[in-house]
Amino acid sequence: MCGIVGYLGKKDAYPVLINGLRRLEYRGYDSSGIALYNGDLEVHKSKGKVDDLENLIGEKKISAKMGIGHTRWATHGEPNNVNAHPHVSNNGDLVIVHNGIIENCNSLKQLLLDKNYSFKSETDTEILINFIEYVQAEEKVSLDQAIRLALNEVIGAFAIAVISKKEPSLMVVARLGSPLVLGIGNGEFFIGSDATPFIDLTKKVIYLEDGEMAVLSNNGVSIRTIESDEPIDAVIHKLQIDLNSIEKGGYNHFMLKEIFEQPTSILNTIRGRLFVSNAQIRMAGLDKISEKLEKANRILIIGCGTSWHAGLVGEYIIEDLARLPVEVEYASEFRYRNPIISSDDIVIAISQSGETADTLAAIKMAKEAGACVFGICNVVGSSIARESHAGAFTHAGPEIGVASTKAFTAQVTVLAMIALYLGRGNGNLSKDKFQEIAKEIELIPAKILSMLDLDDKIQTIAKSLYKSNNALFLGRGFNFPVALEGALKLKEISYIHAEGYPAAEMKHGPIALIDENMPVIVVAPRGDMFKKLVSNIQEVKARKGIVISITGYGESEVKSLSDGVIEIPETLDCLTPLLTTIPLQLLSYHVAVQRDCNVDQPRNLAKSVTVE
Ligand code: M6R
Repeated sequence: MCGIVGYLGKKDAYPVLINGLRRLEYRGYDSSGIALYNGDLEVHKSKGKVDDLENLIGEKKISAKMGIGHTRWATHGEPNNVNAHPHVSNNGDLVIVHNGIIENCNSLKQLLLDKNYSFKSETDTEILINFIEYVQAEEKVSLDQAIRLALNEVIGAFAIAVISKKEPSLMVVARLGSPLVLGIGNGEFFIGSDATPFIDLTKKVIYLEDGEMAVLSNNGVSIRTIESDEPIDAVIHKLQIDLNSIEKGGYNHFMLKEIFEQPTSILNTIRGRLFVSNAQIRMAGLDKISEKLEKANRILIIGCGTSWHAGLVGEYIIEDLARLPVEVEYASEFRYRNPIISSDDIVIAISQSGETADTLAAIKMAKEAGACVFGICNVVGSSIARESHAGAFTHAGPEIGVASTKAFTAQVTVLAMIALYLGRGNGNLSKDKFQEIAKEIELIPAKILSMLDLDDKIQTIAKSLYKSNNALFLGRGFNFPVALEGALKLKEISYIHAEGYPAAEMKHGPIALIDENMPVIVVAPRGDMFKKLVSNIQEVKARKGIVISITGYGESEVKSLSDGVIEIPETLDCLTPLLTTIPLQLLSYHVAVQRDCNVDQPRNLAKSVTVE
């Protein structure tokens, strides 16, 4: 997500800002920019990496003692030079960087348009800085008071830093819902979305709390509440962490961080979309193609890797809840095998990056054949998002580890909401059933949060696996795709050969592999298939296989048959993949760490596969 940096002091601000932006790269971004005060306001911004920004600035000598910078992960408006931050107000006096979303930006924009303000970008941030300018002019107040008054009118989340052409040594920052840290140096101040940008320059920090703002100047720092302008006593903390760990938010690897982010990422996926009381899914992308959905004969889901696995879960859920035929295909096969596509088909294309070459090519082919394409992507502004007729973003936040984790659970969550929408729309899902499922979806983040406590136990179980050369993952029903996903996670980051199978298929071949050296991970949550899975576990045990079970609390029979048991909370059958996946991600992670593998950047793999 977006990152903010800032500097006010005696040093040359430019290198401080550029280094700070580099440290924020791990957050994921698509453009960056800086604004410096050197008697005037100098703004540079560029789509792409911080390298691109530096190349743009080139050898130009920039001398300034105050400045702000930003890495942008697009939300409002595609990633380009114009939408990149910082944004300047209409009179050219004020400049802002912002992390968050201003939800009431449209009404603020209309107010400003009525006052003859104009806008260059598609961002909510440009609206905010102009609103601040407007408030200052109307109320005839100081900059910090104008910011405070303006922020009291804002609905949404923000961390902002503002500087002004008219105030050579004043920076105003504020936060609500998005993080902001102040670094206190010797006669100088740093700001950052976290302490990464200045961790080598000062260890003294103030964590600004939600609803607080700070005025930084040569006279020091003053902190107040945004709502009532009440002074707050600043508490200075000493940073204990080193640069390496803070870049990964305190986690050893991005993958672990992303696994732990899932309670939040799923909340973000469902926010504003899932309404239990009136049994409604509000997704603008679905509404946009509602006529096509009404006429649809079937749904084709395409994707690659983990996204394809999410598609398989989607097939089970959509067919179950909406009684609409679904086929799931690898995009790479689909695009080359002359498939039968009709104009009454809906093609759902799933991709975290939105840039996977095979998925993109398959979309183009489906469109040429007249099908309606709905994209499920994580990256805003990506090619697949743009190429689709309609779509939904997963809102999982940037996924940096090559092994997909939080993107998968967010994709499954979107697919579950699509199933609810379709089922309700075509009358195959009663209001009661909808509400039962929707209520359970709302409980999933808390259940995952409680499961993260299993981390230590799973680390211990991993010790019994990490020397293995092979592993088998078994699941049934909704959890067959989870078995495939568990096997993919293990093989891609630990280089252990692993296969996922529908548990009942074991008898048709794989059972020949089972001996005392074969770990078999069985996904056996409570639900319709539970008894069948217990029989499958018995079959493995009878052949001396090493059984690791993912099952419900207190399942004594499974426990007695297993060498390792991971007990998980209960949920509805169709939602179990959202829970059963978590221990498999952690298991793969710990096995890979114990094998000393490069977890975040496994050999031969890229995060976004842009060639076929
Ligand atoms: O960005 P996409 O979702 O389109 O990527 C698809 C696959 O390349 C991706 O899921 C890959 O399999 C991951 N490394 C799996 O963890």
